[in-house]
Amino acid sequence: MYSEDLINSYPIFDTHAHYDDNRFDDIRDDLLTVIHQNGVCGIVTCGCDEVSSKKALKMAEDYSFIYAAVGIHPGNIDSGTTIEQILELATHKKCVAIGEIGLDYYWVDDNKPQQIDVFEKQIELAKKLDLPIIVHDRDAHGDTLEILKKHKPKGVVHCFSGSVEMAQEVIKLGMYIGVGGVVTFNNAKKLPDVVRIIPDELLLVETDCPYLAPVPYRGQVCHSGLIKYTAQKIAEIRGTTTEQILNLTAKNAKNLFQIK
Ligand code: NI
Repeated sequence: MYSEDLINSYPIFDTHAHYDDNRFDDIRDDLLTVIHQNGVCGIVTCGCDEVSSKKALKMAEDYSFIYAAVGIHPGNIDSGTTIEQILELATHKKCVAIGEIGLDYYWVDDNKPQQIDVFEKQIELAKKLDLPIIVHDRDAHGDTLEILKKHKPKGVVHCFSGSVEMAQEVIKLGMYIGVGGVVTFNNAKKLPDVVRIIPDELLLVETDCPYLAPVPYRGQVCHSGLIKYTAQKIAEIRGTTTEQILNLTAKNAKNLFQIK
């Protein structure tokens, strides 16, 4: 995990991580220290309910380069976490977004009205606090887009998996598109076409770690340092350099999350 090829010459800003995951329990502090020494200049670690949101805030307190997002993930709407709890956590000075929030019809699709309700309430909350949102959309492209068009929040659609047409609509709304390790997979069919059309100023890179490690680490525990492989692939698709992609996306992340 700490091999020499993970040393990065350019800044990496990982806009979507889950460092509270128990797969990091034995290595978290060493790992965060090593990747920060090797180019990772910023991380947004996301909550999915009250417990993980609090853990995200704690990490943000412990590490200057870590920022937190707090929210109720569509898979966690039965966790007992309330919108009021999220509101309270969101006032923390290192909370930079409401997320991850959204719709997931892949795992459960018999609670769509409840998912939509929790999603919309958190969008309203984000707008009230003037925070961006981090959107999870899995197998729910139509409803997600409709809700984004209705509320017009600031934010990012993370691990984008929609069509080029959907990407165009998201771009029209001025929202960012998060691209992760999936872009390096051979079966990422639509994603290269999406990556080609994202305007420079709306492109973000992310891991969703510990999940979705890019090739050549596919299937292993992912971490933010591996973003250089994702950026390399994006650069290849867009006909530019890894350096340009990493500099650009770090700048974009700071713009979206209002980090100086
Ligand atoms: Ni995630």
